[in-house]
Amino acid sequence: MDNHEKILQEVRQALSELRQEEKAAGQEALGRLQELRVKYLGKKGEITQMMKQMGTLPKEERPSFGQKVNSLRQKVEEAFEQRKSELEERIKEKKLAAERIDVTLEKPEAGMGGVHPLTKVYRQVRGIFEGMGFQVVEGPEIEFDKYNFEMLNIPKDHPARDMQDTFYVTDDIVLRTHTSPVQIRTMLGHQPPIRVICPGRVYRTDDVDATHSPVFNQIEGLVIDKGITFADLKGTINTFLRQLYGEQTKTKFRPGFFPFTEPSAEVDATCSLCGGKGCPACKGAGMVEVLGCGMVNPKVLENCGLDPEVYSGYAFGLGLDRLTNIKYGITDIRLLYESDVRFLRQFR
Ligand code: PHE
Repeated sequence: MDNHEKILQEVRQALSELRQEEKAAGQEALGRLQELRVKYLGKKGEITQMMKQMGTLPKEERPSFGQKVNSLRQKVEEAFEQRKSELEERIKEKKLAAERIDVTLEKPEAGMGGVHPLTKVYRQVRGIFEGMGFQVVEGPEIEFDKYNFEMLNIPKDHPARDMQDTFYVTDDIVLRTHTSPVQIRTMLGHQPPIRVICPGRVYRTDDVDATHSPVFNQIEGLVIDKGITFADLKGTINTFLRQLYGEQTKTKFRPGFFPFTEPSAEVDATCSLCGGKGCPACKGAGMVEVLGCGMVNPKVLENCGLDPEVYSGYAFGLGLDRLTNIKYGITDIRLLYESDVRFLRQFR
Protein backbone atom coordinates (compact mmCIF):
# COMPACT_ATOMS: atom_id res chain seq x y z
CA MET A 1 0.00 0.00 0.00
CA ASP A 2 1.37 3.39 -0.86
CA ASN A 3 2.10 5.51 2.18
CA HIS A 4 -0.52 8.15 1.30
CA GLU A 5 -3.27 5.56 1.60
CA LYS A 6 -1.69 4.50 4.86
CA ILE A 7 -1.75 8.00 6.28
CA LEU A 8 -5.34 8.54 5.21
CA GLN A 9 -6.37 5.30 6.84
CA GLU A 10 -4.42 6.16 9.97
CA VAL A 11 -6.20 9.51 10.21
CA ARG A 12 -9.61 7.94 9.68
CA GLN A 13 -8.83 5.28 12.27
CA ALA A 14 -7.71 7.89 14.80
CA LEU A 15 -10.80 10.00 14.15
CA SER A 16 -13.15 7.11 14.60
CA GLU A 17 -11.45 6.11 17.86
CA LEU A 18 -11.97 9.65 18.96
CA ARG A 19 -15.67 9.19 18.27
CA GLN A 20 -15.82 6.49 20.98
CA GLU A 21 -13.97 8.61 23.53
CA GLU A 22 -15.84 11.79 22.92
CA LYS A 23 -19.10 10.37 24.19
CA ALA A 24 -17.85 10.87 27.71
CA ALA A 25 -15.82 14.04 27.32
CA GLY A 26 -16.96 16.77 24.93
CA GLN A 27 -14.44 19.56 25.34
CA GLU A 28 -11.57 17.11 25.87
CA ALA A 29 -12.31 15.37 22.58
CA LEU A 30 -12.02 18.73 20.87
CA GLY A 31 -8.57 19.12 22.39
CA ARG A 32 -7.49 15.67 21.26
CA LEU A 33 -8.72 16.45 17.76
CA GLN A 34 -6.54 19.53 17.65
CA GLU A 35 -3.50 17.49 18.75
CA LEU A 36 -4.13 15.03 15.94
CA ARG A 37 -4.47 17.84 13.46
CA VAL A 38 -1.10 19.23 14.50
CA LYS A 39 0.42 15.76 14.17
CA TYR A 40 -0.52 15.58 10.48
CA LEU A 41 -1.11 19.10 9.28
CA GLY A 42 0.94 21.23 11.69
CA LYS A 43 4.20 22.93 10.65
CA LYS A 44 6.15 19.84 11.60
CA GLY A 45 3.28 17.48 10.81
CA GLU A 46 3.71 14.41 8.66
CA ILE A 47 1.99 15.79 5.59
CA THR A 48 3.78 19.12 5.80
CA GLN A 49 7.07 17.26 6.05
CA MET A 50 6.19 15.31 2.89
CA MET A 51 5.78 18.55 0.96
CA LYS A 52 9.23 19.56 2.04
CA GLN A 53 10.67 16.38 0.50
CA MET A 54 9.65 17.68 -2.91
CA GLY A 55 12.98 19.49 -3.35
CA THR A 56 14.90 16.23 -3.13
CA LEU A 57 13.00 14.70 -6.07
CA PRO A 58 13.95 14.83 -9.75
CA LYS A 59 12.22 17.69 -11.58
CA GLU A 60 9.87 15.53 -13.65
CA GLU A 61 8.48 13.72 -10.63
CA ARG A 62 7.69 16.90 -8.69
CA PRO A 63 4.34 17.87 -10.32
CA SER A 64 2.69 14.51 -9.83
CA PHE A 65 4.18 14.16 -6.33
CA GLY A 66 2.90 17.62 -5.43
CA GLN A 67 -0.55 16.82 -6.79
CA LYS A 68 -0.75 13.62 -4.80
CA VAL A 69 0.39 15.21 -1.55
CA ASN A 70 -2.02 18.09 -2.06
CA SER A 71 -4.89 15.77 -2.65
CA LEU A 72 -3.93 13.83 0.47
CA ARG A 73 -3.77 17.03 2.49
CA GLN A 74 -7.17 18.04 1.18
CA LYS A 75 -8.75 14.74 2.13
CA VAL A 76 -7.17 14.81 5.59
CA GLU A 77 -8.27 18.40 6.09
CA GLU A 78 -11.81 17.53 5.07
CA ALA A 79 -11.84 14.61 7.45
CA PHE A 80 -10.71 16.88 10.30
CA GLU A 81 -13.22 19.58 9.40
CA GLN A 82 -16.06 17.12 9.32
CA ARG A 83 -15.12 15.60 12.68
CA LYS A 84 -14.72 19.02 14.18
CA SER A 85 -18.16 20.23 13.17
CA GLU A 86 -19.74 16.93 14.25
CA LEU A 87 -18.01 17.24 17.57
CA GLU A 88 -19.05 20.84 18.10
CA GLU A 89 -22.62 19.96 17.26
CA ARG A 90 -22.48 17.13 19.77
CA ILE A 91 -21.11 19.41 22.49
CA LYS A 92 -23.83 21.96 21.85
CA GLU A 93 -26.55 19.29 22.08
CA LYS A 94 -25.10 17.98 25.32
CA LYS A 95 -25.00 21.46 26.81
CA LEU A 96 -28.58 22.18 25.78
CA ALA A 97 -29.74 18.91 27.30
CA ALA A 98 -27.93 19.65 30.55
CA GLU A 99 -29.29 23.18 30.83
CA ARG A 100 -32.81 22.30 29.85
CA ILE A 101 -35.54 23.96 31.92
CA ASP A 102 -38.74 22.05 32.40
CA VAL A 103 -41.37 24.78 32.35
CA THR A 104 -44.07 22.28 33.30
CA LEU A 105 -42.46 21.64 36.70
CA GLU A 106 -44.51 22.79 39.68
CA LYS A 107 -42.94 25.92 41.08
CA PRO A 108 -42.07 26.16 44.76
CA GLU A 109 -44.51 28.05 46.99
CA ALA A 110 -44.01 31.80 46.60
CA GLY A 111 -44.21 32.32 50.38
CA MET A 112 -46.77 35.10 50.22
CA GLY A 113 -47.97 36.61 53.46
CA GLY A 114 -51.57 36.96 54.52
CA VAL A 115 -53.85 39.47 56.15
CA HIS A 116 -53.86 39.33 59.98
CA PRO A 117 -57.23 38.20 61.39
CA LEU A 118 -57.57 41.53 63.25
CA THR A 119 -57.11 43.41 60.00
CA LYS A 120 -59.57 41.14 58.23
CA VAL A 121 -62.32 41.75 60.78
CA TYR A 122 -61.46 45.45 60.94
CA ARG A 123 -61.89 45.78 57.19
CA GLN A 124 -65.18 43.95 57.36
CA VAL A 125 -66.50 46.16 60.20
CA ARG A 126 -65.31 49.31 58.49
CA GLY A 127 -66.94 48.18 55.24
CA ILE A 128 -70.29 47.69 56.94
CA PHE A 129 -70.22 51.14 58.57
CA GLU A 130 -68.99 52.84 55.42
CA GLY A 131 -71.97 51.23 53.69
CA MET A 132 -74.19 53.05 56.19
CA GLY A 133 -72.52 56.39 55.45
CA PHE A 134 -69.99 56.56 58.29
CA GLN A 135 -66.62 58.25 57.82
CA VAL A 136 -63.40 56.88 59.32
CA VAL A 137 -61.50 59.27 61.63
CA GLU A 138 -58.27 58.63 63.48
CA GLY A 139 -56.58 60.41 66.37
CA PRO A 140 -53.43 60.31 68.53
CA GLU A 141 -52.62 57.36 70.80
CA ILE A 142 -50.91 59.73 73.26
CA GLU A 143 -53.79 61.89 74.39
CA PHE A 144 -54.67 64.74 76.77
CA ASP A 145 -56.24 63.55 80.01
CA LYS A 146 -58.87 66.20 79.27
CA TYR A 147 -59.97 64.52 76.02
CA ASN A 148 -59.60 60.96 77.24
CA PHE A 149 -61.44 61.49 80.56
CA GLU A 150 -62.59 64.92 81.66
CA MET A 151 -64.61 66.04 78.65
CA LEU A 152 -66.17 62.59 78.54
CA ASN A 153 -67.64 63.31 81.95
CA ILE A 154 -65.02 61.34 83.88
CA PRO A 155 -63.58 63.90 86.37
CA LYS A 156 -60.20 63.38 88.01
CA ASP A 157 -61.45 61.64 91.14
CA HIS A 158 -64.37 59.82 89.60
CA PRO A 159 -64.46 56.06 90.38
CA ALA A 160 -65.11 55.37 86.66
CA ARG A 161 -61.39 56.04 86.15
CA ASP A 162 -60.64 52.77 87.90
CA MET A 163 -62.32 50.88 85.04
CA GLN A 164 -59.82 52.36 82.65
CA ASP A 165 -56.57 52.75 84.54
CA THR A 166 -53.85 53.74 82.13
CA PHE A 167 -50.25 54.77 81.57
CA TYR A 168 -49.49 58.40 82.42
CA VAL A 169 -46.94 60.27 80.35
CA THR A 170 -47.38 63.37 82.54
CA ASP A 171 -50.19 64.38 84.90
CA ASP A 172 -52.12 65.72 81.92
CA ILE A 173 -51.09 63.33 79.16
CA VAL A 174 -52.00 59.64 78.98
CA LEU A 175 -51.99 56.72 76.60
CA ARG A 176 -55.62 56.77 75.49
CA THR A 177 -57.78 54.10 77.11
CA HIS A 178 -60.42 54.18 74.35
CA THR A 179 -60.90 55.97 71.05
CA SER A 180 -63.67 58.17 72.55
CA PRO A 181 -61.26 61.18 72.63
CA VAL A 182 -61.32 61.06 68.82
CA GLN A 183 -65.06 61.69 69.09
CA ILE A 184 -64.39 64.69 71.33
CA ARG A 185 -61.91 66.02 68.78
CA THR A 186 -64.46 65.49 66.03
CA MET A 187 -67.21 67.35 67.89
CA LEU A 188 -64.81 70.21 68.70
CA GLY A 189 -63.77 70.53 65.08
CA HIS A 190 -66.99 69.91 63.15
CA GLN A 191 -70.60 70.97 63.17
CA PRO A 192 -73.27 68.22 63.03
CA PRO A 193 -74.37 66.18 61.24
CA ILE A 194 -71.55 63.92 62.42
CA ARG A 195 -71.40 60.25 61.51
CA VAL A 196 -67.97 58.70 62.19
CA ILE A 197 -66.21 55.57 63.33
CA CYS A 198 -62.89 55.83 65.18
CA PRO A 199 -60.67 52.77 64.94
CA GLY A 200 -57.35 52.42 66.71
CA ARG A 201 -55.01 51.03 69.33
CA VAL A 202 -55.82 51.72 72.98
CA TYR A 203 -54.01 51.09 76.28
CA ARG A 204 -54.91 50.01 79.80
CA THR A 205 -52.85 48.82 82.75
CA ASP A 206 -54.27 45.31 82.60
CA ASP A 207 -52.18 42.27 83.37
CA VAL A 208 -51.81 39.95 80.42
CA ASP A 209 -54.00 36.85 80.45
CA ALA A 210 -56.21 34.98 78.00
CA THR A 211 -58.75 37.82 77.84
CA HIS A 212 -56.67 40.90 78.75
CA SER A 213 -53.88 42.77 77.04
CA PRO A 214 -52.42 46.18 77.94
CA VAL A 215 -52.72 47.08 74.25
CA PHE A 216 -55.76 46.24 72.20
CA ASN A 217 -57.92 47.61 69.40
CA GLN A 218 -61.23 49.42 69.42
CA ILE A 219 -63.71 50.77 66.97
CA GLU A 220 -66.01 53.39 68.37
CA GLY A 221 -68.78 55.22 66.58
CA LEU A 222 -70.54 58.55 66.98
CA VAL A 223 -73.62 60.02 65.36
CA ILE A 224 -74.83 63.57 66.17
CA ASP A 225 -77.68 65.36 64.45
CA LYS A 226 -81.06 66.90 65.14
CA GLY A 227 -83.65 64.37 66.26
CA ILE A 228 -81.41 61.30 66.75
CA THR A 229 -83.09 58.76 69.07
CA PHE A 230 -82.37 55.45 70.75
CA ALA A 231 -84.30 53.81 67.87
CA ASP A 232 -81.59 55.02 65.46
CA LEU A 233 -78.94 53.51 67.71
CA LYS A 234 -80.74 50.20 67.91
CA GLY A 235 -81.38 50.06 64.18
CA THR A 236 -77.76 50.80 63.34
CA ILE A 237 -76.36 48.28 65.82
CA ASN A 238 -78.79 45.55 64.73
CA THR A 239 -78.00 46.16 61.06
CA PHE A 240 -74.29 46.06 61.81
CA LEU A 241 -74.42 42.82 63.82
CA ARG A 242 -76.62 41.07 61.27
CA GLN A 243 -74.26 41.97 58.46
CA LEU A 244 -71.29 40.83 60.51
CA TYR A 245 -72.66 37.56 61.89
CA GLY A 246 -75.55 36.77 59.54
CA GLU A 247 -79.23 37.67 59.13
CA GLN A 248 -80.39 35.15 61.75
CA THR A 249 -78.44 36.98 64.49
CA LYS A 250 -80.51 38.05 67.51
CA THR A 251 -79.48 40.91 69.77
CA LYS A 252 -80.22 41.90 73.34
CA PHE A 253 -79.82 45.42 74.76
CA ARG A 254 -79.20 45.30 78.53
CA PRO A 255 -79.02 48.44 80.70
CA GLY A 256 -75.43 49.49 81.32
CA PHE A 257 -73.40 52.40 82.60
CA PHE A 258 -70.92 54.72 80.91
CA PRO A 259 -70.25 58.25 82.20
CA PHE A 260 -70.44 59.65 78.67
CA THR A 261 -73.76 58.11 77.61
CA GLU A 262 -77.22 58.22 79.15
CA PRO A 263 -79.05 55.90 78.90
CA SER A 264 -76.37 53.28 78.24
CA ALA A 265 -76.62 49.67 77.12
CA GLU A 266 -74.51 46.56 76.77
CA VAL A 267 -75.36 44.56 73.68
CA ASP A 268 -75.28 40.79 73.37
CA ALA A 269 -75.51 38.93 70.07
CA THR A 270 -76.22 35.33 69.18
CA CYS A 271 -72.96 33.37 69.45
CA SER A 272 -71.83 33.03 65.84
CA LEU A 273 -69.97 29.80 66.55
CA CYS A 274 -72.85 27.70 67.89
CA GLY A 275 -75.74 29.73 66.50
CA GLY A 276 -77.22 30.16 69.98
CA LYS A 277 -77.20 26.52 71.14
CA GLY A 278 -74.43 27.13 73.67
CA CYS A 279 -70.78 26.20 73.28
CA PRO A 280 -67.47 26.70 75.13
CA ALA A 281 -66.86 30.03 73.33
CA CYS A 282 -70.06 31.57 74.78
CA LYS A 283 -69.75 29.54 78.01
CA GLY A 284 -72.99 27.77 77.19
CA ALA A 285 -75.04 31.00 77.11
CA GLY A 286 -75.71 31.06 73.37
CA MET A 287 -75.17 34.84 73.44
CA VAL A 288 -71.99 36.90 73.78
CA GLU A 289 -71.48 40.49 74.84
CA VAL A 290 -70.17 42.37 71.82
CA LEU A 291 -70.34 46.10 72.50
CA GLY A 292 -71.31 49.03 74.72
CA CYS A 293 -73.40 51.96 73.57
CA GLY A 294 -75.81 54.71 74.56
CA MET A 295 -77.18 58.17 73.88
CA VAL A 296 -74.47 60.81 74.17
CA ASN A 297 -74.69 62.39 77.64
CA PRO A 298 -75.93 66.03 77.33
CA LYS A 299 -72.97 67.04 79.54
CA VAL A 300 -70.58 65.76 76.84
CA LEU A 301 -72.41 67.68 74.12
CA GLU A 302 -72.18 70.84 76.24
CA ASN A 303 -68.47 70.25 76.89
CA CYS A 304 -67.97 70.27 73.12
CA GLY A 305 -70.04 73.40 72.57
CA LEU A 306 -73.12 71.67 71.17
CA ASP A 307 -76.58 72.63 72.46
CA PRO A 308 -78.30 69.49 73.86
CA GLU A 309 -81.66 71.17 73.23
CA VAL A 310 -80.90 71.20 69.52
CA TYR A 311 -78.72 68.17 68.98
CA SER A 312 -78.75 64.62 70.20
CA GLY A 313 -76.72 61.57 69.27
CA TYR A 314 -75.55 58.11 70.07
CA ALA A 315 -72.19 56.44 70.53
CA PHE A 316 -70.95 52.89 70.64
CA GLY A 317 -67.67 51.13 71.27
CA LEU A 318 -66.51 47.64 70.48
CA GLY A 319 -63.33 45.69 71.07
CA LEU A 320 -61.95 44.52 67.76
CA ASP A 321 -59.89 41.78 69.44
CA ARG A 322 -62.94 40.40 71.17
CA LEU A 323 -64.98 40.52 67.97
CA THR A 324 -62.22 38.71 66.09
CA ASN A 325 -61.91 36.03 68.77
CA ILE A 326 -65.65 35.45 68.81
CA LYS A 327 -65.74 35.23 65.04
CA TYR A 328 -62.97 32.65 64.77
CA GLY A 329 -63.41 30.85 68.09
CA ILE A 330 -60.01 32.03 69.32
CA THR A 331 -59.86 31.53 73.09
CA ASP A 332 -56.69 33.46 73.93
CA ILE A 333 -56.13 37.12 73.00
CA ARG A 334 -52.34 36.66 73.20
CA LEU A 335 -52.42 34.65 69.98
CA LEU A 336 -53.35 37.83 68.14
CA TYR A 337 -50.12 39.53 69.21
CA GLU A 338 -47.51 36.80 69.22
CA SER A 339 -46.99 36.82 65.44
CA ASP A 340 -46.64 33.05 65.42
CA VAL A 341 -46.95 32.05 61.77
CA ARG A 342 -48.19 28.58 62.74
CA PHE A 343 -51.24 30.30 64.20
CA LEU A 344 -51.58 33.03 61.56
CA ARG A 345 -51.19 30.73 58.56
CA GLN A 346 -54.71 29.35 58.97
CA PHE A 347 -56.21 32.78 58.20
CA ARG A 348 -54.42 33.21 54.87
N1 PHE B 1 -65.53 54.08 75.44
C1 PHE B 1 -66.13 52.86 75.95
C2 PHE B 1 -65.03 51.91 76.42
O1 PHE B 1 -63.93 52.01 75.98
C3 PHE B 1 -66.97 52.19 74.94
C4 PHE B 1 -68.19 52.96 74.61
C5 PHE B 1 -68.16 53.91 73.63
C6 PHE B 1 -69.37 52.77 75.30
C7 PHE B 1 -69.28 54.66 73.34
C8 PHE B 1 -70.48 53.47 75.00
C9 PHE B 1 -70.46 54.42 74.04
O2 PHE B 1 -65.25 51.06 77.20
